[in-house]
Amino acid sequence: MNLSSKKSTPIDFEIVSQKINESKLENVGTASIREIKRLVDNIEKASGERFVRMEMGIPGLPATQIGIEAEIKALRNGVASIYPDIFGIPDLKLEASRFVKLFMNKEVSAEGCIPTVGSMQGSFAAFLTCNRLDPKKDTTLFIDPGFPVHKQQLKVLGQKFEAFDVYNYRGDKLKDKLESYLSKGNISCVLYSNPNNPSWICFTEKELKIIGELANKYDVIVLEDLAYFAMDFRMDMSKPGEPPYQPSVANYTDNYVFLISSSKAFSYAGQRIGLMVISDNLFERKYPGLKKYYSSDRFGYAMIFGSVYALSAGITHSSQYALAAILKAVNDGEFNFVEVVREYGEKAKIMKKLFTDNGFKIVYDKDEDQPIADGFYFTFSYPGLSGEGLLKELLYYGISAISLIITGSARTEGIRACVSLVQRSQFDDLEYRLKKFNEDHR
Ligand SMILES: Cc1ncc(COP(=O)(O)O)c(C=O)c1O
Repeated sequence: MNLSSKKSTPIDFEIVSQKINESKLENVGTASIREIKRLVDNIEKASGERFVRMEMGIPGLPATQIGIEAEIKALRNGVASIYPDIFGIPDLKLEASRFVKLFMNKEVSAEGCIPTVGSMQGSFAAFLTCNRLDPKKDTTLFIDPGFPVHKQQLKVLGQKFEAFDVYNYRGDKLKDKLESYLSKGNISCVLYSNPNNPSWICFTEKELKIIGELANKYDVIVLEDLAYFAMDFRMDMSKPGEPPYQPSVANYTDNYVFLISSSKAFSYAGQRIGLMVISDNLFERKYPGLKKYYSSDRFGYAMIFGSVYALSAGITHSSQYALAAILKAVNDGEFNFVEVVREYGEKAKIMKKLFTDNGFKIVYDKDEDQPIADGFYFTFSYPGLSGEGLLKELLYYGISAISLIITGSARTEGIRACVSLVQRSQFDDLEYRLKKFNEDHR
């Protein structure tokens, strides 16, 4: 049923229509996250109604206090006036290396653990460097769906990328699909996030093995984006030094760079600190192609003293102390960060049920034969509506999200919901609105 014939919507129909028109967006359904945010801010203001806001992937929890205290202390001790070493303060490098050992069971020297300005700077520096190792390998491959800003980074760098939606290529099917790209010989690096933004799928061991083995076969670097470290809540990865560990391609290849964000796992998005972790083997590896751009042909050296240096000449000094202190507490078993963020998974479980009880379907619903985990995001659709149409119609019901189209997903019927900003006190509203939506569209 068409919405325009249903004018008694939970949010005033005229106001929503007016604000959509005023936004001048050609198509609300394909608007960027920030554009949706602005539109919803405007509708909320004009209607006086609070939305169930699921468009932005920002932490909904307070920042880890240990970090704040350490940062204040560092500032009081005078670090603000001093340039930090480009490769990172020793404490942070040491704790990062311990973290990787204790939570991934991988040995990486402190030298290869480098702070970055959020994981975003890490990916930017990684693209910059990886696409210059070999003139024949000038293209990044994304295993999508993915985080749109990564593609934006390549666009502003003027570098090439290819991508495919993994939805139809899970398990054994991943091998032929991935190989069809890698065998062309133009791919320098492959990026995916695990758990995945936007779909919250997690690669199985079989899939990680396929990726790792093909990375070896075609000498490609895997950029493993661990923005949601240990947040596959189906397993308890919270105990330092004890399995299960964060699953990783590193169990199958040495050609890896981890991008570890502190934004979600430690609710530390505002301070823009993340980690790039380069395997020891890759760190030392020499690539003749690097000589054209950097003073050294060693991968790790070029990355740090070439790319990261050129981008920001070091990472905010105080925030390095913050992350060092957080990691130390986590590594020493004094702070269980997974327990804190588990709240996202618990909310997702309830919210997904509210959606599916009211006619919606979960789009990315399986990891091979296992139901996906409940976590920071989930994806949904409504029978008979495109993702773009659904996104727009939901605005009249006080629910905001983003379309999967902008994430490289081929599931054009899908929408991504982020649970972080939704308060439990809004669940009744959400239920009422979804029920009403279902009644109006049946
Ligand atoms: C998959 C993925 N990678 C990277 C990032 C960015 O992380 P950071 O805030 O550390 O730059 C995000 C943030 O939403 C993300 O979802």
